Amino acid sequence: MMENKWKLNGKTALVTGSTKGIGKATAEELAALGATVIITARHAEDVEKQVEQLRKDGFRAYGTAADVTLESDRLKLFRFVKNTVSGLDILVNNVGTNIRKRMTDYLVEEYHHILNTNMHSNFALTQLFYPLLKASKDAAVVNVLSVAGLTHLRSGAPYGMTKAALTQLTRNLSVEWASDGIRVNAVAPWYTKTPLVEQLLKDKKYYQDILTRTPLKRLAEAEEVASAIAFLCLPAASYITGQCLAVDGGFLINGF
Ligand SMILES: NC(=O)c1ccc[n+]([C@@H]2O[C@H](COP(=O)([O-])OP(=O)(O)OC[C@H]3O[C@@H](n4cnc5c(N)ncnc54)[C@H](OP(=O)(O)O)[C@@H]3O)[C@@H](O)[C@H]2O)c1
Repeated sequence: MMENKWKLNGKTALVTGSTKGIGKATAEELAALGATVIITARHAEDVEKQVEQLRKDGFRAYGTAADVTLESDRLKLFRFVKNTVSGLDILVNNVGTNIRKRMTDYLVEEYHHILNTNMHSNFALTQLFYPLLKASKDAAVVNVLSVAGLTHLRSGAPYGMTKAALTQLTRNLSVEWASDGIRVNAVAPWYTKTPLVEQLLKDKKYYQDILTRTPLKRLAEAEEVASAIAFLCLPAASYITGQCLAVDGGFLINGF
């Protein structure tokens, strides 16, 4: 009984953006805990490679390419999940992007791209998968947010806006869907070593500034964020809903 609290055997999980970075590490962690995982991202060859690797490692994995910003692809993904594994117990909304600028420099297309990728796609996908999550009777949604949605960062206003909005979506859905047996939580990472921030971290001064603000004096590994996401999906977290867990090396509480 105690052991089962820390296992996801028999569960099915969809992780968006699961070919790189935090999403990839999360899919691997959920698979290692016993879940059947659905891999998805825009590049089909990366999806195939990741599914192959997971299967080689002895895990149950399926995958299909989809751009979560496109309604047609979201529907394709939904049909794939329904036809391949029939139900869904875990949805990790991980896809996110950024363009770093000062507010007055954003082109309207850039602004819409950030909102569509980070926020609208999350809302639409979660809405789409609701019937499957409800049918599970014991489901978990985890939204991958950012400390940028909780405080000012030098990463641009639209990114922070989308992550803050998703914090509230997490709270609203946790109450609205509690009676359906769906828990809804979030994680808010601080700088994590992934392709998303690879270029930015080449700036030595910027990197040093990050370390100066971080009590643990290092960046997160994608696997460390994945562990927090996986915890929120486990039966061990059965009484936790509506929360946003910062995975930030102490950044948020680091006053002077
Ligand atoms: N890394 C950090 O420091 C950090 C800090 C705080 C929060 N976060 C958040 O953590 C999440 C993951 O970030 P990451 O750093 O792991 O990102 P990443 O390294 O850029 O990986 C993003 C993943 O999402 C996929 N993807 C991107 N756009 C997509 C779309 N429109 N449709 C479907 N798949 C898409 C990518 O594959 P394709 O290119 O093939 O689509 C890739 O698999 C994001 O929400 C980000 O905001 C990251």
